[in-house]
Amino acid sequence: MGLLSRTLWPLRQSAIKTKFHMSTAAGVATSPAQATSHPRTSPPSPSPNTLNPLSKTMPPGFKASVAHLPTFPLPPTITSSASDHALGNALVDAWRRDGIIQIAMDSTQRQLWADAKAASRAFFGRPHAEKAACVDSQSYAGYIASGEEITDGIVDYSEIFTITKDLGVEDPRVRAGWPGHGPCPWPDAGMKGVMKRFEGRMGEEGEKLLTLAELGLGVPEGALTGYTRDGWHHTRVLRFPPRNATNGKGKKGRGIGSHTDYGLLVIAAQDEVGGLFIRRPNQDEKFANWEKSAAGLNEDDDSWVYVPPVDGVHTVILGDMMQYLTRNYLTATPHKVGLNKRERFAIAYFHEPSFQAVLKPLEGGCGGMAQQSADIEGVHYGTHITNMFMRNYPDRITTRRLVAENRYSLLKRPELRTMCATTA
Ligand SMILES: [Fe+2]
Repeated sequence: MGLLSRTLWPLRQSAIKTKFHMSTAAGVATSPAQATSHPRTSPPSPSPNTLNPLSKTMPPGFKASVAHLPTFPLPPTITSSASDHALGNALVDAWRRDGIIQIAMDSTQRQLWADAKAASRAFFGRPHAEKAACVDSQSYAGYIASGEEITDGIVDYSEIFTITKDLGVEDPRVRAGWPGHGPCPWPDAGMKGVMKRFEGRMGEEGEKLLTLAELGLGVPEGALTGYTRDGWHHTRVLRFPPRNATNGKGKKGRGIGSHTDYGLLVIAAQDEVGGLFIRRPNQDEKFANWEKSAAGLNEDDDSWVYVPPVDGVHTVILGDMMQYLTRNYLTATPHKVGLNKRERFAIAYFHEPSFQAVLKPLEGGCGGMAQQSADIEGVHYGTHITNMFMRNYPDRITTRRLVAENRYSLLKRPELRTMCATTA
């Protein structure tokens, strides 16, 4: 483990606590670093549905404690100011403590979320044949029916429209057959416009959060954000059916099984219905999803935390690559979704490294891609995300074509393992 990991990070951790406690003790939310609610999750409750009003929306049939999270507003721009450092420290502290943070939406983001939610409702309300036509044989973008996705061998009840990098067939990467590279099969121009605006703004938020995380971790500028040039960002527009109105293909009450996500950050918006559960970081819980799938891990035990819907916030959890880069200082957040009494809508935006990125753990004094350790092979993000798509969608036309044309073998080629895209 590098110098930074041995010394600076533990020192920074004690500094975080001092700053964060000072700011909350003052009780006046005048700084961006100050949260707008109590900064702790509530302790596990033996009867959460009766003792904690935040648990009123918890899906039936689940045992979990209930998160009561601080909400952080983000400044318009991030510099290296003292307040930005304090905010970065507070975010890292909150991720290490709770596994999830809440970010306040501004007025533009509230409108974008309202528009995206309306577009989502309209799309999922279409006849099945129209939705099912939204697939592409080269990209994993488009429609995924309830019961099509597989997590840990069990189908998920989520109904999804996935948005990956929308590349025309003339793009050199598509022409060369790079796995997962292709057009997004939009149902209409209206949904495309709404979702692209939503995703664009989420991307700005993702870059801000990574910059703040760099400040909070005490790593050089670019140690995280350097990986997101031409990032393989993608979005999942999600609908969950009511628990008593499923097609019976999956497991009762299970919307999506336990798993971790693959990249750096997952920024999500959820409606008022409720269904998200996460696990807090736990030193005794070891997993490395880039080596062995963590899907299904501890899915049915009672140490989950329910994340109740809060109006006007995004939730942000961490992905596998953040865990890998920080050598488990920040860990990917295991999460799952339960089905509720009513249908539920949510959108998850994934802020990712470049498909070509080969990530290596941060070292003291040499964080980031510029000074990667030559003796560490690293994790190729493009292979990591392709493995996920193939595992989750084994019967999709995209997987069948990928296998039939031996596209997976391209992932070993040098031009798919550079930091920069071949096209701007
Ligand atoms: Fe996920």
